[in-house]
Amino acid sequence: MKIRVLGSGAGGGFPQWNCNCRNCHGVRHHTIRATPRTQSSIAVSTDNRNWLLFNTSPDILAQLHASPEIQPKEGVRDTGIKAIMLIDSQIDHTTGLLMLREGKPLDVYCTEMVKQDLSTGFPVFKMLEDYCTVNHHPIPCDGSSFTIPGIEDLRFYTHALKSKAPPYSPHRNDPHDGDNVGVIIEQISTGKKVYYSPGLGEIEPHVMNAMQAADCVMVDGTFWTDDEMSSQNISPKKAREIGHLPQSGEGGMIEILNKVENTRKILIHINNTNPILDEDSDQRKILDAAGIEVSYDGMEIIL
Ligand code: MLT
Ligand code: MN
Ligand code: ZN
Repeated sequence: MKIRVLGSGAGGGFPQWNCNCRNCHGVRHHTIRATPRTQSSIAVSTDNRNWLLFNTSPDILAQLHASPEIQPKEGVRDTGIKAIMLIDSQIDHTTGLLMLREGKPLDVYCTEMVKQDLSTGFPVFKMLEDYCTVNHHPIPCDGSSFTIPGIEDLRFYTHALKSKAPPYSPHRNDPHDGDNVGVIIEQISTGKKVYYSPGLGEIEPHVMNAMQAADCVMVDGTFWTDDEMSSQNISPKKAREIGHLPQSGEGGMIEILNKVENTRKILIHINNTNPILDEDSDQRKILDAAGIEVSYDGMEIIL
């Protein structure tokens, strides 16, 4: 299977439009070695022609312009996007649906909770009723498997994660299974597995099991420290509070990934404040030494 990273940044992208942090200033003015990143999304295919999109970022149009394999091939209107899976209803993962309104009905796979958010707090499913329309396909949150018509040779397993619904959600402070899911993508013919979870607040046993069993993990790379935003007076919010396990420190993502063996380890959904974006930073060297990669837009993983 091939995985194409469409957007490796967290909400806001890199640089973020209104941000003057060391990284954003540095990448704008070329004073650090770093590459801009669009917002969080990947695409997966086993035939280079039919793609399953994971999440639809506000940057989707630029991401598709940069991805010839997903562009129209036949007839006057066409796309390589055969279906979409949403892992949550966050703004950076869902607003791109509006950019796909010119096409055929969208086959969107997501949990009932995500569907609820996208029909109430951010009623994009309802809005699209007067454009392309959305066919919603419910997905499990208990780790059971399913396949997607048109996406050959792949099987998916989705499980609930301990995290939160987005700030706009009517049930922001009332967590439910299915507000966020982690997904195992398995190629049926080869048995190869990828675990994809750009928002991981807590490593529950089923998450650890999924990572151990995977050939490649693409996991939450949002923040280096818990107080990354508060220490720079950017926001009072702590990483863990908003559902993102920081990389450094006790119980952090590096410590977790050190326990996972025989697996390619890739961080994704990287916030613009994260020092790992500076390729010459000490933090980046720590990741290199631990064998942990930092994803970038256009990165392709072949398993
Ligand atoms: C997150 O990943 O925590 C959210 O995307 C943040 C946001 O919506 O800005
Ligand atoms: Mn996000
Ligand atoms: Zn910034």
